[in-house]
Amino acid sequence: MPFDPAVVRASFAVVERRADHLTKYFYAHLFTNNPGVEALFPARLAEQRDRLFAALTQLVLRLEDPEKLTGYLAALGRDHRKFQAAPEHYPAVGASLIAALKHFSGHAWTPEVEQAWAEAYGVIARAMIDAAAAVPADTPRWWDAEVTDVRRAAPDLAVLTLRPDHPYPFTAGQYLTVSSERHPQVWRPYSPACAPRPDNTLELHVRRVPDGLLSTALVNDVRPGETLRLGPPLGEAVLAEGSERPLLMVAAGTGWAQIKALLEQLVRNGGRSATVFVAARDDHDQYDLAALHDLVKEHAWLHAVLSAPAPGASRGAAIRLLRDGLHNYGDCAGHDIHLSGPPDLAPALTAQLLDQRADPALVRHDPVTATFNRSRPLTPAEWFLEERDVPWINRTELGPPT
Ligand SMILES: Cc1cc2nc3c(=O)[nH]c(=O)nc-3n(C[C@H](O)[C@H](O)[C@H](O)COP(=O)(O)OP(=O)(O)OC[C@H]3O[C@@H](n4cnc5c(N)ncnc54)[C@H](O)[C@@H]3O)c2cc1C
Ligand code: HEM
Repeated sequence: MPFDPAVVRASFAVVERRADHLTKYFYAHLFTNNPGVEALFPARLAEQRDRLFAALTQLVLRLEDPEKLTGYLAALGRDHRKFQAAPEHYPAVGASLIAALKHFSGHAWTPEVEQAWAEAYGVIARAMIDAAAAVPADTPRWWDAEVTDVRRAAPDLAVLTLRPDHPYPFTAGQYLTVSSERHPQVWRPYSPACAPRPDNTLELHVRRVPDGLLSTALVNDVRPGETLRLGPPLGEAVLAEGSERPLLMVAAGTGWAQIKALLEQLVRNGGRSATVFVAARDDHDQYDLAALHDLVKEHAWLHAVLSAPAPGASRGAAIRLLRDGLHNYGDCAGHDIHLSGPPDLAPALTAQLLDQRADPALVRHDPVTATFNRSRPLTPAEWFLEERDVPWINRTELGPPT
């Protein structure tokens, strides 16, 4: 390893309480010194600004085990083509990172510390630049997709049918990111409910999140004929290749989309023993039961368990019901397991399923991302007294620090 991770960690501890200021400084420095770069970022950075910076600091802190990060960084670098990030932007981002850290570190900033950060950043940037450069030149940075249908499946949920302008290289179980001209440069992940059909169309299930920027536009405003941008496919929660193991799947809310895509893939593969739990918080959560009923009716290898609390019950009640159902399922040894739903679903259920003898290597789900809620500023009392995680560090995405 070319740098000392302990030096980076120690210097980070000096600044982490000033996270919000540091992030603002970082972007101000980046945009002031690099005209044109601001246009690559979404307009409402005041609320969204943590994404790039959080990832940067988190990755630097995890570099003790670069092997673990290789695949992640390569995918991130390839994905950055859609942001129009070019190799020459990387030194600029690195310089602003160092400038921000230096500004808030005071006397703790030494030449040794600066060198450690620069080297750590260099390792990450190199991995991303190389991966982007290795993408064949004829691979689009993004796919323009025509919205061919919009169906309101529940009051706050739309099923969108999209037709990308080029063949889309997607495997059931992956996810993709979507952007709309209605909110330029804002990209959010969604899990298609099918692999591209013979006419190259895909289906997205989008639930409107309160105050959500893109989900509100997708559910309320987007109309057939409109164009959306799709980033390259991401994620590894696909069916295990060649596996004959029984399957246990859990879908909660729009997590059903990913599970539906996997079930359709299973059908194409000839099917094998599978139990799917479809968990609902309320009536609107089970918005596609007809499709599930059809699948169960047509395929004897598939069993479905619906888990929905009484109307008006709390979210906690819905989760308890699902947990009880899984508990009754019993021994999960030797099962391929797929979990898809809200961000807290996978970590919570994985712990339970491991107790039910699931093999951790056979549990698949999308990366658990933080929800970037920046709307509530810290009060002075919280700032000094509350012992909580630094809000702009997504500690969950890559698992707990080693
Ligand atoms: C791998 C992956 C796959 C996903 N697949 C789907 C999918 O198939 N269908 C789907 O509808 N969504 C899916 N999501 C969630 C989706 O990416 C967006 O987070 C969601 O649509 C909100 O985006 P927004 O721009 O509307 O909200 P933002 O403008 O980003 O957020 C506005 C407010 O909502 C809160 N918020 C953000 N996301 C959520 C959330 N998921 N639940 C509750 N509150 C939230 C924020 O903290 C913030 O306060 C997926 C997320 C991931 C990581
Ligand atoms: C080693 C350096 C970098 C790392 C680790 C990194 C990491 C990330 C991550 C994880 C995200 C969030 C992705 C998402 O939410 O889907 C992101 C977003 C972004 N990155 Fe990078 N990035 C790096 C360099 C760059 C460079 C050089 C540019 C080009 C100027 C860039 C431009 C962007 C843009 C425009 C976004 C979207 C911002 C947003 O949605 O708020 N990044 N980056």
